[in-house]
Amino acid sequence: MDDLSMLPDGFTWGVATSAYQIEGAVAEDGRSPSIWDTFSHTPGKVAGGDTGDVACDSYHRWPEDLGLMKDLGVGAYRFSVAWPRVVPGGRGPVNQAGLDYYDRLVDALLAAGISPFATLFHWDLPQALQDRGGWAARDTAAALADYAAVVAGRLGDRVTNWVTVNEPRCAAWIGHLEGRHAPGLADIDVAVPASFHLLLGHGLATQAVRAAVPGARVGLVNVLHTCEAASDRPEDVAATARFDGHVNRWWLDPIAGRGFPADMQRVYGIDLPERAGDLEVIASPLDFLGANYYSPVVIADDPGGPVPYAREAGVSPDGVARTMLGWEIRAAGLEQVLVRLSEEYGARELYVTENGSAWPDQPGPDGQVHDPGRVRYLEEHLAACGRAVQRGAPLAGYFAWSLLDNFEWDYGYDARFGLVYVDYGTQQRVVKDSGRRYAEIIAGQRQAAFRAEATRREAEPLTG
Ligand code: FCB
Repeated sequence: MDDLSMLPDGFTWGVATSAYQIEGAVAEDGRSPSIWDTFSHTPGKVAGGDTGDVACDSYHRWPEDLGLMKDLGVGAYRFSVAWPRVVPGGRGPVNQAGLDYYDRLVDALLAAGISPFATLFHWDLPQALQDRGGWAARDTAAALADYAAVVAGRLGDRVTNWVTVNEPRCAAWIGHLEGRHAPGLADIDVAVPASFHLLLGHGLATQAVRAAVPGARVGLVNVLHTCEAASDRPEDVAATARFDGHVNRWWLDPIAGRGFPADMQRVYGIDLPERAGDLEVIASPLDFLGANYYSPVVIADDPGGPVPYAREAGVSPDGVARTMLGWEIRAAGLEQVLVRLSEEYGARELYVTENGSAWPDQPGPDGQVHDPGRVRYLEEHLAACGRAVQRGAPLAGYFAWSLLDNFEWDYGYDARFGLVYVDYGTQQRVVKDSGRRYAEIIAGQRQAAFRAEATRREAEPLTG
């Protein structure tokens, strides 16, 4: 893995998870239902009727999961805090028992030398807030900031790195326009205000965390795709620009202080619920940007289809490698995304906050889980990180998605993304080949960085 020699000293090697996908224990210690509890319990919404009721039971088994992180040798853990555990009503009284859980987790992470990266909102909105309008209501943005202040107030003496919102694009568009995620709506009149309030909530939460924790480092995590036209027909080229606007620019321009893209405002045709000063809040300065990257998309014009009248063409050449979800595998896309954030958006610090692939893993006769597809995906995408750094992207770390197989939203439990296999019947964990390979890569890169540093010191003239 020669390309990794480009990674900077002190590069952060991490794994990522999120609360609803791994914790289970949905009715314990005062947690209230989230929109994902409601959605997953609605027949027909999640493959196989799966829910997050038990998931990986990490609410109880977190010491074991921490042990797995130690075995992998990771230096950072990106997890999310469940809003419905901490402020069960969405607004109002704080549930100390919910906070205690994250308090113990953070202490144990630090004792193990693993740096916590806490995400405040990874889609599990308290149902109580949905009942009052959810993200379509401006008040939800303020509620996020209040909840952020509570969490930061409790954990901020030990947690430095904070992510406000995970993938606002998915929460807004998949949840309110496509209906495939909670709350399961398909209504542009709701989706556009929701998109605005998610970013407003991000800005307000950024300010709340900074007010509670001097020295906090705050970022936003977006999922980004490279977008390529299915043909050179002008219609497909224009559709590709719209798709890029919909999934990428709508989420990057406002936080970079450029406002919401005018071309997309015309495409949506919905007035933004903007008040004076909102754009400044949304563009609150950040310490880093997180990029989640999974796949490129190839786009065709779709005049009769839903907004943004562009669809994934599914026309990539035969033989293109895909994961079990049909997502095209193209590591160069990650390089492109990182370089774009640095060159087009002037990002000063970047993390790959998620990257990984789904496969239908099962233990073999030897009891081990051999996952060559994931090993290869990991190696190729890490090499792409090295190339992005070579091209000037200020990449400070990489988080593999995911530590564990877990509840993959509308796909349920069949889509396995973990470096560690989970037997959902017994809750037994088995480190996959990819987990071992990741551990090897991490150890190798650290040693190489250490050797390079030693050589540099030896070459320094002695001063006396
Ligand atoms: C991302 C989500 C994450 C996980 C991966 C596969 O969109 O942030 O929770 O489901 O996809």
